[in-house]
Amino acid sequence: MEIKKIAVLGAGQMGNGIAHVCAQAGYEVIMRDIEQKFIDKGMATIKKNLERGLKKGRITQEEVDATLGRITGELDLKAVVKDVDLVIEAIPEIVKLKLDTWKEVDEHAPEHTILASNTSSISITQMAAVTKRPEKFIGMHFFNPVPVMGLVEIIKGQATEDETVEIIKTVSEKVGKKTVLVNEAPGFAVNRLLVPAINEAVFAIQEGVATVEDMDLAIKMGLNWPMGPLTLADFVGLDTLLYISDYFVEEFKDSKYRAPALLRKMVRAGWVGRKAGKGFYDYSGDKPKPMRF
Ligand SMILES: NC(=O)c1ccc[n+]([C@@H]2O[C@H](COP(=O)([O-])OP(=O)(O)OC[C@H]3O[C@@H](n4cnc5c(N)ncnc54)[C@H](O)[C@@H]3O)[C@@H](O)[C@H]2O)c1
Repeated sequence: MEIKKIAVLGAGQMGNGIAHVCAQAGYEVIMRDIEQKFIDKGMATIKKNLERGLKKGRITQEEVDATLGRITGELDLKAVVKDVDLVIEAIPEIVKLKLDTWKEVDEHAPEHTILASNTSSISITQMAAVTKRPEKFIGMHFFNPVPVMGLVEIIKGQATEDETVEIIKTVSEKVGKKTVLVNEAPGFAVNRLLVPAINEAVFAIQEGVATVEDMDLAIKMGLNWPMGPLTLADFVGLDTLLYISDYFVEEFKDSKYRAPALLRKMVRAGWVGRKAGKGFYDYSGDKPKPMRF
């Protein structure tokens, strides 16, 4: 089966990036969010990122125009999924929200449509089981920022068919990504390592081991990470990290995955990272300013 039209659910950090790379690769894309202002913000981000590529000479004006011309926004879920070949979901990492959404998508999408979740941790099998097509359900885990990061983790649920895996591999490669195939397990391959590592950095801040900037510098220079764990936490979103940590504890039944109290307090305060203007750094000035705890 050839994929021509893709629905992207969620126009946030991940959704707008996924819509961007899919449209740039030639797919027709319809992007959905729950309020028009979120769709407008997502579209504005796509435009800004494409224009950055244009300035750097990576793409032409014709490509920018053609890419933007292939993306539309829509609020009504039924209208969004009615004639698409693939749905990629990038809505918040909340189990009930995802399950309710997938039930509705399954009801209105054509029979042949493949359903892919960009979840960071939630069970693909659990989501597939609320649909009538678990063989066509799969994990398609992009990384942030999507236009820059080169990997897609493909996650096979218990019932996912090989044909679905092959189609998603083809789409991922067409949008310029390398793929790894992972059998379902909480956090798949990357987040199983990354989330406990970020949490450990937050525990160290909580215990006064180092300042935010020193912890970031230590890991950047000492381990050759491209950015420190607290900068990365702000990029990912502290709310998303907390959802994942809580989900890991529940799934692995192992307290080693627990979230630090500081992370939970910051989420409660709304300091969820870059998207909120404040996290481990304050983004209100010209340059991110490390916070003191
Ligand atoms: N942030 C990361 O680094 C990262 C990386 C890989 C995967 N993910 C996963 O991607 C998903 C989205 O994360 P994000 O960082 O883009 O979050 P985000 O908060 O930036 O965006 C989520 C968007 O979904 C919208 N939304 C809420 N309910 C919706 C619904 N029912 N239908 C359509 N849209 C809805 C919100 O309004 C928001 O615009 C999560 O599952 C997350 O775990 C995140």
